[in-house]
Amino acid sequence: MKISRIALVTGAARGIGAATSIELAKQGCDLILCDLEVTSLAEIQKKVQSLGRKVWTYACDVGSHENTKALGEKIRTDCGRLDVLVNNAGITKDGLLVKMAEAQFDDVIRINLKGVFNVTQAVLPLLTGNPDKQAAIVNLASVAWMGNIGQTNYSAAKAGVVGMTATWALEFARFGVTSNAVAPGFIRTPMTEKVPPEIREKFVQKIPLKRMGEPEDIAALIAFLASPAARYITGQCIEIDGGLTVGISAI
Ligand code: NAI
Repeated sequence: MKISRIALVTGAARGIGAATSIELAKQGCDLILCDLEVTSLAEIQKKVQSLGRKVWTYACDVGSHENTKALGEKIRTDCGRLDVLVNNAGITKDGLLVKMAEAQFDDVIRINLKGVFNVTQAVLPLLTGNPDKQAAIVNLASVAWMGNIGQTNYSAAKAGVVGMTATWALEFARFGVTSNAVAPGFIRTPMTEKVPPEIREKFVQKIPLKRMGEPEDIAALIAFLASPAARYITGQCIEIDGGLTVGISAI
């Protein structure tokens, strides 16, 4: 019997994480879902199960080194292998630097940057020890890694994620583990619901494809990078933004 690939998705309860979990399940992966929001996680669990895949769910704060260490141990005992890691959990706490509180900076760095370090380190032996010598890490960056007004904390974290992604491509290549990042533009999820409608509309006008991205648009790219078909792609950060970052924006 063919053994299913197993994928861990952090922040799987909604938005891009939920869509990615469903897409990976459609592509034949069993899923390990982790989030702080266990009630919403149970709904995604049902959807993945209805696609005939196995699911394990864990409550975990990716920003806590202790929590993620325990998560790594549980995955080793409960699942025994790991083929795909999607570091998706993230938050925003926007504000201009002039007004940004220390806690706003620390919280975003803790979850969006250290969280990626924590989870990857916790499950690394399972990835590098993959029985097929083929595993994939996909990290969620953002086009904001190149800079965005009001996002000192977020752009610092996401630029850090791009740097870690490249470093890991070098460190893990000899184990057959690829490491890539995706950098979404403006995607319709609970994260961007906070943005006032008039600002959202201004953003959409700047996007050549003239619409926000859907979580499924991002999930499709993540699932591709996680699949064996992408086995020769590593160390890359791929923008997926409807053309937002292409060309000279001042024109
Ligand atoms: P979302 O806010 O809709 O979902 C994020 C999920 O992460 C939630 O289920 C939340 O409970 C979970 N989460 C938050 N903190 C956590 C923690 N400490 N431990 C475990 N889980 C935690 O966000 P969305 O939009 O789906 O974003 C997913 C990723 O994509 C994030 O890394 C975000 O920065 C990135 N992204 C999103 C964009 C967008 O326009 N929505 C654009 C670029 C990047």
